[in-house]
Amino acid sequence: MNTLLLVLGITYLHVTMGYTSLKPLSYVQLPTGLNSAGGEVFGGLDLKASEAAAFDHVNSILYVIGSTSHLMHAIDIINPAKPVRLFKHKFTIGEGVPLAIAICGGEIAVALSAQTDTNEGHVRFYRTYTRNSGANDVFLDGYVTVGSRPRDIKYTPDCNIVVVSNEGSAGKDEGGAYVDPEGSVTIIQGEKTGNPSVRLVDFLDFNIGQPNYNMQIRTPSLYIPKSVYSGDTTVAQDLEPEQVTITSDSRTAYVTLRENNAIARVNLRTSEIPSVTALPRKNWQYTGVDVSDRDGGVHRRIFPGLQSLRQPGALASFEIGNKKFLVTADAGGIKEYTAAKHGFAWSDSAIAKTIAAQIEVPGLKVNASNDEYLGRLFISTVDGKNAFTGLYSHLEMFGGRGFSIWDTSNMQAPVFDTEGTLEEYMESFYKPVFNTDYVKATATYTSPEMNRDFASEYQGAHVSSIDVADNNGTVLMVAGTWSTGTLFLYTVDTSSGQPIPQFQAIYRAGNTDEPWADLYTQKTVGDLYISDVGIITSDKSPVDRPLLYVTSSGAGAVSVYEIVDETPNIP
Ligand SMILES: *[C@@H]1O[C@H](CO)[C@@H](O)[C@H](O)[C@H]1NC(C)=O
Ligand SMILES: *[C@@H]1O[C@H](CO)[C@@H](O)[C@H](O)[C@H]1NC(C)=O
Repeated sequence: MNTLLLVLGITYLHVTMGYTSLKPLSYVQLPTGLNSAGGEVFGGLDLKASEAAAFDHVNSILYVIGSTSHLMHAIDIINPAKPVRLFKHKFTIGEGVPLAIAICGGEIAVALSAQTDTNEGHVRFYRTYTRNSGANDVFLDGYVTVGSRPRDIKYTPDCNIVVVSNEGSAGKDEGGAYVDPEGSVTIIQGEKTGNPSVRLVDFLDFNIGQPNYNMQIRTPSLYIPKSVYSGDTTVAQDLEPEQVTITSDSRTAYVTLRENNAIARVNLRTSEIPSVTALPRKNWQYTGVDVSDRDGGVHRRIFPGLQSLRQPGALASFEIGNKKFLVTADAGGIKEYTAAKHGFAWSDSAIAKTIAAQIEVPGLKVNASNDEYLGRLFISTVDGKNAFTGLYSHLEMFGGRGFSIWDTSNMQAPVFDTEGTLEEYMESFYKPVFNTDYVKATATYTSPEMNRDFASEYQGAHVSSIDVADNNGTVLMVAGTWSTGTLFLYTVDTSSGQPIPQFQAIYRAGNTDEPWADLYTQKTVGDLYISDVGIITSDKSPVDRPLLYVTSSGAGAVSVYEIVDETPNIP
């Protein structure tokens, strides 16, 4: 889409004079792997070649990890319009699969899952590259063992503590036996002294019968029928920590438990998890949403009896005065067990039409039987049921199709929610690719336009990444989505003491009318499956203006944008 259309669109939405927009500066496609001679291979879409990034502002180097490629790329963005790939670091099979990266005070921390991801993972620490040093790799400082499948890693702002979320997802061990490791959080302190203290904090207190047990917390794997898997699963095994944010005072970490629709609070002074908060459902009774790929286009309809599990993955924190807020990317997450990965098949989801007979509300039952309405939607089979009849009294879909903001002192309800606006903006600005999705089997002949609406019955406007930063007094917020690879830019009005996001701009990179496979080859597929976004504030930017980096797991690329203040100079 061109800038003119965006400007017209903004005018149409009655956003007043002065707004902020995204200007694409560069796009770098990263290799999906190396061949036996060490040459780079660009193997196609959805190969996780660009999973996450961290920025060293001292040297203006962006570090990007690819998980299946086992690579970490050092990319010089001193000129963000002309990035230069300086070198790449290859992780060995034994070191594991890099899943997350963080940088603080001249140190890089990379979280690596074991090759068999039910085994324990590791964090490896490296020194950042020094500009003009001529080095062609990073130098290892040390490593520590963490829990299974470390999914995210963050430093406290003072760089003293590293917090790692260990997802502990279920699967087969090397012997082929089904195991479900406990989710946990690892707190690593004083790595730089060479003698770090490493504490693994578990969720055993949240098990049934234990002091912190809370039946409001969603625990889907406890519903696996005995006929499918005869073993027992505990709450601690079911809880799957996903992403981490840390408050600016370095005292508290918040960790999302995506499938559990909950957020854990971690006290970094005592290394304890005092609470896990179950998030309220989102009600779609008065908000339009497109939940069907068989409705012949974009139709955001209202369905009484439809709710959603927010199930945040990514999150970020910010403060207004001394009030602490979280912004959560309400992604959604279906739990799926397969014979290949787990040894048995089960899912906590079903297509609404297949369970319509078990709905006790007549009108809802009629709509759930209709493919143009709710019939195609994936809904939770462990939620929404009347405890006495066992029938569905309402339906709960996966994901909030947006983001929400929470006051950490009271998480009973969000202080802000995008409601249905992300799909509304998609319809206004990018209707030809509304809720599009990449489909591998047809990638050589279907285009993003042809796959329009494919994500509607899954997670729709699925926000997969989010960041917030104070840029010289202006709070900037960016959300990035999965299948459509779209960026939503906001400023946050904080003048009332409460955060009020103001929509500024939407941007979807990439062409829309050629087959996905060709777009990959031509490097015009955009930011498919946004896996990480990071705002570089002007004080840390090589060009003294705020930048945004975007990694995309599907495209295997990293994009850099400038966040442009379009406020006109009125003399
Ligand atoms: C069925 O869906 C239509 C389309 O959104 C809606 O207008 C209607 O109210 C729904 N019916 C019931 C009984 O929920
Ligand atoms: C920050 O804002 C002030 C005015 O509020 C301005 O004078 C200053 O130049 C800005 N700094 C940067 C780095 O943009």
